[in-house]
Amino acid sequence: MSEELKRQAAAMALSEVRSGMRLGLGTGSTARHFVDLLGHKVAEGLDVICVPTSEATDLQARSLNIPLSDLETLDRLDLTVDGADEIDPALNLIKGAGGALLREKIVAASSNRMIVIADDSKCVTALGGNFPLPIEVNAFGLGATRRSVADIVASFGPDTWLKLRGEEQGKPFVTDGGHLILDAFFGRISQPEALSDRLLNIPGVVEHGLFLKMCSKAYVATPNGVEELKPQ
Ligand code: A5P
Repeated sequence: MSEELKRQAAAMALSEVRSGMRLGLGTGSTARHFVDLLGHKVAEGLDVICVPTSEATDLQARSLNIPLSDLETLDRLDLTVDGADEIDPALNLIKGAGGALLREKIVAASSNRMIVIADDSKCVTALGGNFPLPIEVNAFGLGATRRSVADIVASFGPDTWLKLRGEEQGKPFVTDGGHLILDAFFGRISQPEALSDRLLNIPGVVEHGLFLKMCSKAYVATPNGVEELKPQ
């Protein structure tokens, strides 16, 4: 998708921002447009206070003089705007391609509303078919955690796989929280809640990229304009 279309989706989300709001700022190339547009509004006098979901977004927001805070200082947030890797008709999501899923989920869970901005290539009939699920794991005991996750992945059938992000390049990817990411390709995930429970039951799993019942609206950019989606 062109950057211009991503920016259009971001602009639609920005139109929901009002002075006085406490905002969660997402991570990724689409969220980056939102933060950039928000920076312009702040320069014009919009009064917001924001919690970033990654060091990268923190840096970008600081460069734009967007006022920042944290979840120690702020009780709840009004709205989080973030991107996604897959969006199903209920607006359940896979997130975490950028590796920020833990902070993204903490911030989204602390928000009264979450709006996702994306292009229509992210829309799927069921999660898991296009995109591997990022699973954030503690570095300690990686072998044991990996074997436990691998057992679950294998139970989804033969066309599945599990990789430690960055391993093939000889440099495992490390998250902002100092953890590692296992990318798990399950194919179609028919029962995401059950999968979520199974993964979170593994002690070394910190969090996973299934965002279930968290998103209340999506602005999806298509070549014919931006569509507003509500959970079906
Ligand atoms: C970051 O960890 C991810 O959850 C992103 O929000 C997601 O990958 C979408 O990124 P893009 O907007 O770059 O596609």
